[in-house]
Amino acid sequence: MQHILGIDGLSDADITAILDCAQAYADGLRQPELLRGRIVFSLFFENSTRTRVSFETAAKRLGAEVVNWSPGASSVAKGESFADTIATLAAMRPDAIIMRHTENRAPHMVAERALCPVINGGDGTRAHPTQALLDALTLRQARGQVQGLTLVYCGDIAHSRVAGSGMEIFRRLGARIRIVAPPAFMPMDLPPGVEAFTRMEDGMPGADVVIPIRPQNERMDTALIDDAGYAAAWGLTPQRLALAAPGALVMAPGPIRRGVEIDGAVADDPARSLILKQVANGVFVRMAVLDLLLAER
Ligand code: NCD
Repeated sequence: MQHILGIDGLSDADITAILDCAQAYADGLRQPELLRGRIVFSLFFENSTRTRVSFETAAKRLGAEVVNWSPGASSVAKGESFADTIATLAAMRPDAIIMRHTENRAPHMVAERALCPVINGGDGTRAHPTQALLDALTLRQARGQVQGLTLVYCGDIAHSRVAGSGMEIFRRLGARIRIVAPPAFMPMDLPPGVEAFTRMEDGMPGADVVIPIRPQNERMDTALIDDAGYAAAWGLTPQRLALAAPGALVMAPGPIRRGVEIDGAVADDPARSLILKQVANGVFVRMAVLDLLLAER
C-alpha cells in the first residue's frame, strides 16, 4: 500500500490487514508512539467534523505532529491555484498528507506530485475509503462477519461517496446490498448485484443493517426534495425499522439530522444504533492506516 485513495486501490489482503490492525488498536494491543517525530499534513478543502478530528486524534495517539491547513485562511483565498498550493505544501516534505476535496480524484492529483503517502478523507461524490473501512470494522465487531448479511443503503445514494465506498467494501466482504432511494437520488449505474427500490416499505423486509444517507444538498444547486417531504417518505422511523429483520442494526456516517433522514429514537436506540461505535472505530481505523502506510518508511 502506497496511498489510500479508494477501496478499489486496496487488495483483499490490504483490507484484512487494515481491519485486523485497527482491531488490535481497539483492543489496546498495539504500541503507541509509533510515529513520534513524523509530521502529517491535514488539508481539508471541504467542511468536516468527524473525519478531520478523527484523523488528527489518530495521528496524535501515534505520537505524530499534525499540521492543520484550511483553504479559508490560506493563499487559495488570494487566488493561488490548487496545483500551486499542493506543490508548495509538498515541497515542505510532510511524512503523510490527509486530504478532503470537493472535486472527484483531487487526491490522485496530489498523490502524483507528493513524495509521501496520501490518504483520501473524501473526494467529491467519489470515495471515502476510511469511512468504508470503519463501517466494515464496526459491522464485523457487531455481527462477527459481514458475509451473508443484507445491507440497505437508503437516501441520497447518487451524491454519496460514503455509499459508493461502502457498497464497494461490503460487496467484496460478501454482503448482499440493496438501495432504497427517491428517483432523484438513485445512481445512474447500479453496482453489479445491487437491488434497487424507491419505497422504504419495499426495501426493508429482511434487512440486517440499515444505513440512512442524508440528502447531500451542498452538492446540488437547490435541494431536490424538501426536508418534510423527505422525512415523510424516506425517513428511518421506528415503524420502518420494524419492517427489517428482527434486531436489525443501524449505521450512519453522520452528520445526522434528527427527524429528517433518521428519527431521534432510532439514532439513540442502544440496542440498534452503532453510530457512536462507528465514530470510536474511526480513530482505530485511521491509526491502522497511518501505521501501515508510515511505520516501515
Ligand atoms: C460524510 C462525508 O463528508 O462524506 N461524513 C463523514 O465523513 N462521516 C457524509 C456526509 O456528509 O453526509
